[in-house]
Amino acid sequence: MRQSFPSEPALTRLGAIPRTELASVPTPLLAAPSLAAHLGAGVRISVKADDRTGLGLGGNKVRKLEYELAPERLRGVTELVTSGGPHSNHCRVVAAAAAQLGLRCTLVINGQPEDPTRGNACLHRLLGASIVTVPERQDRDPATEEEARRIGAAGGRALVVPLGASTPRGALGYVHAAVEMHRQLDSRARVWIFVCTSSGGTLGGLILGCALLGWPVRLVGVSADEPAAEAKDKAVGLALDAARLLGGKEIGDSVRTLADSVVTTDDFVGAGYGAATPAGDEAARIFGARTGLILDPVYTAKAAAAMIEWFRRGRVPTSDRVVFVHTGGHPALFR
Ligand SMILES: Cc1ncc(COP(=O)(O)O)c(C=O)c1O
Repeated sequence: MRQSFPSEPALTRLGAIPRTELASVPTPLLAAPSLAAHLGAGVRISVKADDRTGLGLGGNKVRKLEYELAPERLRGVTELVTSGGPHSNHCRVVAAAAAQLGLRCTLVINGQPEDPTRGNACLHRLLGASIVTVPERQDRDPATEEEARRIGAAGGRALVVPLGASTPRGALGYVHAAVEMHRQLDSRARVWIFVCTSSGGTLGGLILGCALLGWPVRLVGVSADEPAAEAKDKAVGLALDAARLLGGKEIGDSVRTLADSVVTTDDFVGAGYGAATPAGDEAARIFGARTGLILDPVYTAKAAAAMIEWFRRGRVPTSDRVVFVHTGGHPALFR
C-alpha cells in the first residue's frame, strides 16, 4: 500500500523553512491493544500522543506555533497578540510561547469567565498574559487590531497570531506530524487517521503531509463545530495554500487526489461547539479505562466517539490499522 516519496524535494524544502523549536517532538505513538480488544475491532489501534507536545500543557497548537513564530517573524517583536474564547487552548499555548520567548502577551477574549477562573481561563492568567475582554466573538478582530495599534503607539511591536494558528504556515507543523507517524507506523497495512477539526490547520497539515509522502491514508476529520462540508473545504484550502509554500505544482495535484478520499463528519458536534455529548462522554470513559489516556469533552472525546462509531458499524476492515490523533485540550475538564 505504501508508496515511494514522490515529493522528496518538497520535504527537503520543509526542512529548510525556519521554525522556532517549541514542541517536544516526536511525540510517542502509543499502542492501544486493550481498547482494540474492548471494541472487538480486530484491528491495531495506536494513539499519536500530541497531547504531549509539552509547552504550556501541550496539544496541537504547539506544532503550529513553531512556524507562526519562526525567528524571522519575531524580529523586533515585543508582544504576541491573539484571540479566542474564555477557555481557548490556542490562547493558553500562545501565552506560554510568549513567556518562553521572553515576550509580552495580550489575549482578546470574548465573554467573561467565571470568578474565580478555572481551566484554561485560569491558565491564561497564570502564564502572565494581559486579558482584554470583549462582549461577542465578532468583536475580537477589531479589538485585536486595536491592541496591535496600541502596542505600536507605545513603541513596541506586536505580532498578531491568527485564530488557532491555522494559517498555511501553521499547517506545516502537521506536515511534520504526518512524517513522524509514517516513520513510527512503518506498516504496509492501510491506515486510517481520526482527528478532530475546527479551524482546519491540523487536518490541513495532515492532508498535505500524507500527500507529500504518497501515503494513501483514510483521513477522517471530526468537526467540533462546523458543518462537515465547510470543515473539509477549510482544511483542503489550507493544505493547498501550505503546499504553495513548499513550491511545485505537482504537490497541489497530490493534495487534491488525497483530498478526494478525506471524510469529514459533523455527526458528533451535538448541541454545538463546546457542548459535551453522551457519545463523547462514553468515548472518554472507554478511552480512560482502556488506554489510561484522558480525553477532553470539546474536541478529542468527539473525535474518539466517531472512531468508535466507525468500528461499531464495521467500517474499518480488520487488515487495516488505525491512528487516533490526540490533540490535547485537557484543561477543559477543569472548567
Ligand atoms: C484540543 C484541540 N483539538 C483539536 C483542535 C482542532 O484543531 P484545528 O483548529 O487545527 O482544526 C483544537 C483547536 O482549537 C483543539 O484545541
